[in-house]
Amino acid sequence: MARDGAIYVCQACGAVHAKWSGQCPACGEWNTLVEEVQANRPGALKPAKGARRRGVEFETLEAENPEPPRIATGVGEFDRVCGGGVVPGSAILLAGDPGVGKSTLLLQVLANAAIGGARVAYISGEEAVEQIRSRAGRMGLAQAPVKLAAETALRDILEALKTDTFDLVVIDSIQTLWSDALEAGPGSVAQVRACAGELVRLAKKKGTSVILVGHVTKDGQIAGPRVVEHMVDAVLSFEGERGYPFRILRAAKNRFGATDEIGVFEMGDSGLREVRNPSALFLGEGGERAAGAAVFAGIEGSRPVLVEFQALVAPSAYGTPRRAVVGWDSGRLAMVLAVLEARCGLGFGDRDVYLNVAGGLRIVEPAADLAAAAALASSALETPLPQGCVVFGEISLSGEVRSVGRMEARMREAAKLGFDQALAPLAAGDGSPPLAVAGASRLADAVRRIGDDVWPVAGAKVRA
Ligand code: TYD
Ligand code: MG
Repeated sequence: MARDGAIYVCQACGAVHAKWSGQCPACGEWNTLVEEVQANRPGALKPAKGARRRGVEFETLEAENPEPPRIATGVGEFDRVCGGGVVPGSAILLAGDPGVGKSTLLLQVLANAAIGGARVAYISGEEAVEQIRSRAGRMGLAQAPVKLAAETALRDILEALKTDTFDLVVIDSIQTLWSDALEAGPGSVAQVRACAGELVRLAKKKGTSVILVGHVTKDGQIAGPRVVEHMVDAVLSFEGERGYPFRILRAAKNRFGATDEIGVFEMGDSGLREVRNPSALFLGEGGERAAGAAVFAGIEGSRPVLVEFQALVAPSAYGTPRRAVVGWDSGRLAMVLAVLEARCGLGFGDRDVYLNVAGGLRIVEPAADLAAAAALASSALETPLPQGCVVFGEISLSGEVRSVGRMEARMREAAKLGFDQALAPLAAGDGSPPLAVAGASRLADAVRRIGDDVWPVAGAKVRA
């Protein structure tokens, strides 16, 4: 039986257990359970002496006071991912790998908000004020009225936020904060949870929006920001592939907006540049598209984005052929390969297959199936797709090409960027599409078209 009030918290996943054990039963990590003493055990809540009994006051859905306006930070891509600016009094967690550019992004967001008239503060537990200043100088934002502090003591931070009134505060990072009310070290689950809890409470009470930075590391020593995810209103993740300058901001959770929106940035010498038209960026240098390349007309959030799928199908040197995929789901690749084999007569059993999404973007839409299949078939048949062709469509196990959402918007974006035809589901040709549509109802039709090199001339609608 556990000691009174003692609980055991996994430092990797945050699961709480009544008993200690060597392996966390929830996530399977070893040696991650740490004892914590609960100040108040559940059910131990007793009314304080002299406290009046009060029920809950219910309210209506209809608001009596109009909602306070959102804070537009002036960094458009950031505002869009937040759902149209930062909601006053909300708490946001910005998670990402170390070095991806979280501090850079938030400094930029704060400085722009401050220039726009918001009262903002940047509290760093990782860098000295001098370092932040020099970074702001390099980014050309030294004149912005941002209040800076290097501090890690939660008590002092709360005191400062209570006395001064701010619209937007950044805490960089939540793992460096420590509360003297707990014995655990900074970065432990107990500290991260307690500090985040206090800050979120303060945010709601004072109407100050708080952005918490959280590092995601594989290292078990440092508590991942997972435990904070439940407390905050929005969880944004900042991602980027190593070696690429592109950074993508995604909402993993958002109480005030859609979660499929992405913001695209490019890291340069003077900070992050917003990329308003990501299609041009992910399509790369242009030039001749070789066999194995297919341009996917995708939708990311509310925006159409064109991105190139690149496939290489090559004879396998070893007994077990390799399948490697970057930027797409490997399970989905296996499915598309199986359908190509079973329904289209293409054999991959003795061939290595590599599939890459250009630009470091990660595609999750099922609409990309046909683009991946077209890239694979094009490489296997050593026949390039027409230069002005975009591809989209979902593939079912039976080999059917299914319609996908927002086909018109996909084609309009492609037309804007100079593409003139689409390899797409049959239904894309209905009405008056902005491109010549090579409609396919079955994957075999699409593959036959690639192999035989039969494409519609611009303006004509062709049914396979
Ligand atoms: P940083 O914001 O410190 O990352 P995080 O807070 O997520 O740990 O960004 C670090 C990287 O960004 C670093 O490798 C250098 C690069 N960087 C630039 O390329 N240009 C710039 O103008 C700035 C400020 C950073
Ligand atoms: Mg940082």
